Formats: sequence, C-alpha cells, structure tokens
Amino acid sequence: MTHPWSFPRADALPTYAFVATDAVKRQAIAAGADLIDLGLGNPDKPTPKAIVDQLHAAADVGKNHRYHPGRGLPALRAALGQWYERRYQVRFDTDADLLVTMGAKEGISHLCLAILDRGDTAVVPDPCYPIHEGAPAIAGADVVGYSVVAEVEPARAVADSLQSVRKKGGKTKLVIANYPHNPTGYVISREALADLVRVVEREGAMLLHDAAYADLDFSARFAPSIFDCGIDREAVKRFAVEVFSMSKSYNMPGWRIAFMVGNPRMVGALAHMKTYMDYGTFIPLQAAAAWALEHGDGLVDEIRGLYQSRATTLTRGLATSGWGEVPEPSGSMFVWAKIPQKLKGMSSLETTNWLIDKAHVAVSPGTGFGRGGEGFVRFALIEDPPRVEEACRRIGQALSA
Ligand SMILES: Cc1ncc(COP(=O)(O)O)c(C=O)c1O
Repeated sequence: MTHPWSFPRADALPTYAFVATDAVKRQAIAAGADLIDLGLGNPDKPTPKAIVDQLHAAADVGKNHRYHPGRGLPALRAALGQWYERRYQVRFDTDADLLVTMGAKEGISHLCLAILDRGDTAVVPDPCYPIHEGAPAIAGADVVGYSVVAEVEPARAVADSLQSVRKKGGKTKLVIANYPHNPTGYVISREALADLVRVVEREGAMLLHDAAYADLDFSARFAPSIFDCGIDREAVKRFAVEVFSMSKSYNMPGWRIAFMVGNPRMVGALAHMKTYMDYGTFIPLQAAAAWALEHGDGLVDEIRGLYQSRATTLTRGLATSGWGEVPEPSGSMFVWAKIPQKLKGMSSLETTNWLIDKAHVAVSPGTGFGRGGEGFVRFALIEDPPRVEEACRRIGQALSA
C-alpha cells in the first residue's frame, strides 16, 4: 500500500548536480567502458602522509574517542585563528567568532536553517555550488539568483538582484558569495570583493562568503578574504561570515572539517542549532587538522601547483581536440567550458551524456549548478596529465567522427 505522505522539502529540491548523470555513467561502465570521470570535484590524491601520521597518533589516545560537544577542539580553533592572522592579518575571538563544522556543506546548510525562515529572501550566485541555492531553499526562504559571468562585475550583479527583490516589495536577508567560484573557476580581486561587501552592507543584509578554495587562487596564492579586502574588519564582522574548508587544498575531503568565522550572532546561532544536531567531528581528525593548519603551508603550495598544471593540460588538450578555445581558470579545481561549436544545439545535459556515450569521459552539466549554467559543462581536475590527455584525445576523436 502506498501511503499518502508528502515530503514538501525533499520533493522541492531538484535532482543533485552529480546524480543527474549517474545512470548514464553506470550504463557505460556496465558495458565495459574505461570511463574517465571528471564529474565530481572529489580530490583524487590521498591526504599528505604527515597529516595522516598525526591522525594515527591521536587515534591511539583513548580519551579522544569520546563525544566532543561544543564549538570544536580548542587547538583547532586556535590554529585557524593563527591561520587567519598569518594570511590576512585579522584576529578573531576563537571562542565567540569561530566554529568548527562537519564540512562546509554542513555548516552552510545548518547556518541557513538557523538564520532563515519562510518569507525571507536569499540572493545566491547562478551558477552556484548546489548547496548555495539548496540551503536557503531547505530553510524555506525564497531564492533569487545573481548571474556569475565573466563580463559583469560581481558587485553589479549582486546589486541588480537586490534591486529586483526590492522592486517586488521584498527585502533580502542573506547574500551568498563564493570566490574562487565553483563551477566557473573565476577569482575576485580585493577591490572587487570590497565592492561586493559594500553593496551587501548598504542593503542591510547578512553576507555568507564561501572561501572553500581560498588556497587555490593561481594568481594571488591566497584568494582575498572578506575580512581582508580593505574594509574595516570590525565593520565586516557586524554582518558577515566566511567559510573555509580543509577538503580541497589539504586533500582532506572525507575528513569533513571546515569552519564558520565572523559575526558572533550568526556563528552563535549555528552553534546553538548544532548542540541539538551533532557532537562534533571525531577528536583525532580535529587534532590532525590543527597540525595541518599550523604546518601545512608547503603541502598546500604543492596541491595548488598540481591543479594549476592540470588546468593547463586540459585547456591545451581541449583546444587541440577541436573543442575550441577554453579559458584557463584563475583558480579552483575546475575548468568551465562553453559547449563547442560542433555540438551546437545540444543542451549542457545532452552534451554531458554525449561525452559519456561517445568519448567515455564524464563531466558535470552546467545546469546542475543552476539555470545560468546552460551552455557550459564543468571538468573537475581530478586526474593526472596522462589521463587528462587521454580524455582530450577521446573527445577529439568523438568530435571528428
Ligand atoms: C564552493 C564549495 N564550497 C564547499 C564545498 C564542500 O566543502 P566541504 O567538503 O567542506 O563540505 C565545495 C565542494 O565542492 C565547494 O565547491
């Protein structure tokens, strides 16, 4: 018997970006294809051994196996405080302004549940990392996109969306920004980030900046922080928080460790929600993460170099495959590629399925990141150059067939 249940929140969410092509991938693999999967941005290299050694040592200590309620291991919060001080010359109260989360995704989701409600409006990037649209929607808020395209200054795009909300009689409560940006790989200058922060401040909205790729800015080494963009930090702290994650630049995606830093009321609301929801990340993972933040700058430099060289290999390979010119990203671990002339007329999902079927190369459809992603696909840089070259060779063959 089928129960007449309704699940409005779950049912309202579109299929997750990476699930949309799973069935086609499975079919190709079942038929014997050696699929080169550049879909999910899941770092392929193991966590550096020096960090894993710290985990082993901490896991051998029995008292580390207990629950750890609260805002995160004090040593880890202190390490992140020093990380911000070293890079961005900004000091935080590591008790009030800072919280360890179980990954950025968890932190963003629960922050939105903590601070948004039905009737609120959130303005988010389009295209975006899916949780930027999903978290406010799950919290019941109305979500309005602002366009992330190379030709429009980010502050202008945000201002236009804020104005469109106002014109309809609404008021934006939260703006989400993300630089370096997933899926496009666009980076932002300090000045342009300051302009964006000012636009949000003038609106009287809160700001959430997702800096998960802060280490992966190929031009500046460290991408700008909202707390170091030339605006008084205390003023920014009055309405904004920033997220940083260990997942990408330390090759620690499975560890689920990230941070929410900034406005103590926003951080406090999230901490309060989390007292009901979890008991924090396993202590040995947090202890090893603290060591990584203190000692890992050299490891991060290597990982940044790896993604940059893969980006060069891929964009060159696509150019010679007949795909056409694809701009090399200035940051992140992605290449955002316009659908090639030869596949004109295909949607981004059709192009993705075509690539899996004809070239045995998987990418993510641009529309998996929002309507603004139509006309593009995203390649994740999660294979070494020989495999990337092989992917481009196969794409070239498929395009010329
Ligand atoms: C912009 C952005 N934020 C956050 C995340 C996820 O971070 P975490 O692994 O800490 O949840 C990703 C992962 O792809 C991302 O692209």
